[in-house]
Amino acid sequence: MRIVLGVSGGIAAYKAASLLRLLTEAGHEVTVVPTDAALHFVGAPTWEALSGRPVQTDVWTSITEVPHVRLGQQADLVLVAPATADLLAKAAHGLAGDLLTNVLLTARCPVVLAPAMHTEMWDHAATRANVATLRERGVHVIEPASGRLTGADTGPGRLPEPEHIRDEALRVARVAAEGGAGADLAGRRVLITAGGTREPLDPVRYLGNQSSGKQGFALASAAAARGASVLLVSGATTIVPPPGVEVIPVQTALDMRDAVEAHFDQIDVLVMAAAVADFRPAEYVDTKIKKTHDPANPDAAPTITLVRNPDILADSVARRGSGRTPLIVGFAAETGDDRGSVLDHGREKFERKGSDLLVVNEVGVGVTFGQDSSTVHILRRPEAPGEPAPVTTVGPAPKSEIAEAVWDAVLHEL
Ligand code: C5P
Repeated sequence: MRIVLGVSGGIAAYKAASLLRLLTEAGHEVTVVPTDAALHFVGAPTWEALSGRPVQTDVWTSITEVPHVRLGQQADLVLVAPATADLLAKAAHGLAGDLLTNVLLTARCPVVLAPAMHTEMWDHAATRANVATLRERGVHVIEPASGRLTGADTGPGRLPEPEHIRDEALRVARVAAEGGAGADLAGRRVLITAGGTREPLDPVRYLGNQSSGKQGFALASAAAARGASVLLVSGATTIVPPPGVEVIPVQTALDMRDAVEAHFDQIDVLVMAAAVADFRPAEYVDTKIKKTHDPANPDAAPTITLVRNPDILADSVARRGSGRTPLIVGFAAETGDDRGSVLDHGREKFERKGSDLLVVNEVGVGVTFGQDSSTVHILRRPEAPGEPAPVTTVGPAPKSEIAEAVWDAVLHEL
């Protein structure tokens, strides 16, 4: 896709460098159009090096190529991040004093603006009116995140994380390319579990796993962008949650089970993307377990007894009974071996777990866990009993794209 990435003059311009990276890594052709003010924060060489293309801010350079018209006309997506209060005002009023504002006037493709400013500026009646005008005209204005702003203050106005802006902008472009189906999950309440659980042994140690939470967070981001109301029950992860998603942080499998049970009767879809520990220490010791100081046995080590954790996915299927509400999606991290391929093991697990869909992915060293991309096989129930489960394979693809494919499969079932 041909993308124009506009950058206006706010401190969050530095985050646009990561956004640019994400877009080029996904294979898009990105031309960066900074404003003069943006170049005070991040210089032209950074944009040129990361995009592999020259950048310009005014309409007086390369006049023979008519860049002020050509860039907007030829783009498949115009994305501005950060969009300052000043940029929003200019866009709302059709001012065209520099290259970026000219691009906004000539673009006939989807336009996505990701505002970033102090809370007072975001809340100001002038900004609210400008945003309302832009939205009425079909411009997609992303809600800013809440959190730490430039100084010590916090509040709404923070630029959302680059991954979230990428997901939302690409979704807007995809929906437009497909004829504008829009928020196809609107009115649906979904609960997604993500990340790994931690099972404590004592106040400083736990049993954990390699899950990064990236796939679960990508599912939450995509669902929110498609209009769903999203509850994200998150185990251990360092990822910043997408805006507009309600996060319930949990630590152990038992905490996660309780959070799922507490909302089970209010949701339409349950997606178990979390890596839930199958076992936990039988006993939690509330003081740090010490090394022994027995001179007769200097290498002594404690024996840890484990007990089984509940299988939240299987229990949810059992709890639901014969109906199909909520629709239940499981994940299976598999490795192939001499008994069968990743898909063979996935099919066997699909039978055992009883979920409506099972997303099977291959795991291993440097594969899936912690990565930004993976390959998955989405299994669904056969039309007639006895037939093999139909499968859709997606990838290798960014986890954001896999998330979209999972929601497409969910919508098909709903
Ligand atoms: O059996 P396995 O752990 O491979 O199954 C993976 C699926 O089961 C995932 O959807 C995971 O979230 C879920 N699971 C669970 N409770 C457990 C273990 C796994 O809900 N104790």
